[in-house]
Amino acid sequence: MSQKKDIKIIVFKGGEKIQLFTYTNEYRSLMELLSDKLYLENFGECKGMGRCCTCLIKINSKSHKVNDFEGNELATLKKHNFNNLNDRLSCQIIIDQNLKLIEIEL
Ligand code: FES
Repeated sequence: MSQKKDIKIIVFKGGEKIQLFTYTNEYRSLMELLSDKLYLENFGECKGMGRCCTCLIKINSKSHKVNDFEGNELATLKKHNFNNLNDRLSCQIIIDQNLKLIEIEL
């Protein structure tokens, strides 16, 4: 039985607005969803280890609470001079109900 895709994620990419639909735990991370649906070149090169910074996204929605920084994420962002709290590594973001209607930018 397939699960209802009740989480809509709005992605802005190069002036284009794309809507993606998923459900909790369909993918291990937001990076995997974006890679699977958008076929992004050179995206997610370290396969979710939080070290390469190629899966960088910007969260445009101010009202959404995604999971906190964990593991290598903050150190990797700082190393690449991303100091804005809205800049996140999509490989470190868990897909759950908190992402409903979130707007992100690639
Ligand atoms: S995939 Fe490398 S930091 Fe996210």
